[in-house]
Amino acid sequence: MSLTRRNFLQFVGTAAGAEAVHLTMQALDLAGAGAAHAAPPRLLGGSGEGTSVVILGAGVSGLAAAYELSKAGYRCTILEATGRAGGRNRTVRAGDWVEEFGGRQRVDFGEADHLYANLGAARIPYHHRAILGYCREFGVELEVFTNDNRAALFHDRERFGGKPVVARQVITDTRGYVAELLAKAVGQGALDSELTGEDKERILEMLVSYGGLNPDRLYKGSNRGGYRGAQVHAGLKTGEVNAPLDLGEILQADFWRYKLHFSHFLNQNPTLFQPVGGMDAIVKGFEKRVGRLIRYRSVVKEIRQTAGGVRVVTGNGAVEADFAVCTIPAPVLKDIPGDFSPRTRAAIGAIGFVPAVKIAFQARRRFWEEDHAIYGGISWTDQDITQIWYPPYGYHRARGIIVGGYIWDDAPGLRYGGMTPPERLRAAIAEGERVHPGYGAELEAGVSQSWRETPFQKGGWPKSGHGPPEALQRPDGAVFFAGDQATALPGWQEGAALAAHAAVNAIHERVRAK
Ligand code: PHE
Repeated sequence: MSLTRRNFLQFVGTAAGAEAVHLTMQALDLAGAGAAHAAPPRLLGGSGEGTSVVILGAGVSGLAAAYELSKAGYRCTILEATGRAGGRNRTVRAGDWVEEFGGRQRVDFGEADHLYANLGAARIPYHHRAILGYCREFGVELEVFTNDNRAALFHDRERFGGKPVVARQVITDTRGYVAELLAKAVGQGALDSELTGEDKERILEMLVSYGGLNPDRLYKGSNRGGYRGAQVHAGLKTGEVNAPLDLGEILQADFWRYKLHFSHFLNQNPTLFQPVGGMDAIVKGFEKRVGRLIRYRSVVKEIRQTAGGVRVVTGNGAVEADFAVCTIPAPVLKDIPGDFSPRTRAAIGAIGFVPAVKIAFQARRRFWEEDHAIYGGISWTDQDITQIWYPPYGYHRARGIIVGGYIWDDAPGLRYGGMTPPERLRAAIAEGERVHPGYGAELEAGVSQSWRETPFQKGGWPKSGHGPPEALQRPDGAVFFAGDQATALPGWQEGAALAAHAAVNAIHERVRAK
């Protein structure tokens, strides 16, 4: 086998994740300096006095566009189809209603301030500067959101006897085995054509440290994976390290496909944040500033280009403006009659949305903390519910809200979306029981949201893999598109904010050129 340096790094990356690549690169002296940060968007310096803009949708993108435009003097009207602002930024609390095509669910959580669920957006990576900028500007208090927790569980029905295994063991053992194998390959000279003698020595040393290998460069378990017995640590005794999990089982489990290195994805890296008390604190910040511009329950029926701009027909009257910013999600927009070019139409029609579903439960007891020392983070399962999220807030208090399912693959998303709300809760409890036996008895209320079944949304977020639809990044006549769907950050509020900024800047350019 002949390996180039690049192949070698790719091999390390696939096998052991980004961290290993970085360590390897450091050892090989390949790591360069980080790229410079993009400056925050420079918004309008000039004035929009005398120019009107109609904004379609009061989600984060529409709100951000309205906020920036009105700061510059533009006259804005926001048309919102539902009775609330925020779109997929959606926090539910006691007494709220979740509306779907199939009916309504009442949220039966308790009244305490930590008993809420973010059924849409729930985490903000540290490098999402635009949305964090609004948090700073609006005084939205932030706390850390935890993706990654070594005490959380990995579960595959077919592996390890169908029992969940604890993350600290899966992660430690996978890494240990990969390090051992690579050390063997290097030690046996399999990579001699790629590595100098000095490289070899350094990599072997690195692998021992990285993988927790013994002096013979073998992986025999490590206290990183915890000690045998009920306690994580050994306490007063010296303790015996857990025996490593079976490598064959690890390789056959689905963990390593993405769950094991989930927090390595750029948008899932620590540090992540959430607003204290619910994601909708961001929406409230915008509402305070531009809420008076919103016309609720204004369902867009037609989008027409006119000689001087646009005319948007709603169920309760028409609005004329010089420009429109359209954030209506593609699955909804594609069915609205409008004067768009075939190119724009095709782009709108081509965006497929993830049929995402979230299910939240109120537990009478924070059993994850009491019984498992799990404080925040995610347990993963190969069942439809995909993941269980433990609240990274309200620690040790009475009760808690967990996410008992967050589904983002097509088939399970459609399965759960097709169920009635009570069926979803029952199914999610049955699946959760395999991760946490006795689970069902701890839960006292639940609510679910299928974004595909949600009116005026019809989907979670654009499926990745197609790149941003370029056609939505330029205006069609007087209509400028925004929303996360018009960016390379689908499914993130950052995308919503950046698209708003781009649309606002483009409108401003157009006005200045007049
Ligand atoms: N931002 C959402 C999340 O972190 C949805 C999303 C998931 C978007 C994965 C892109 C990729 O869960």
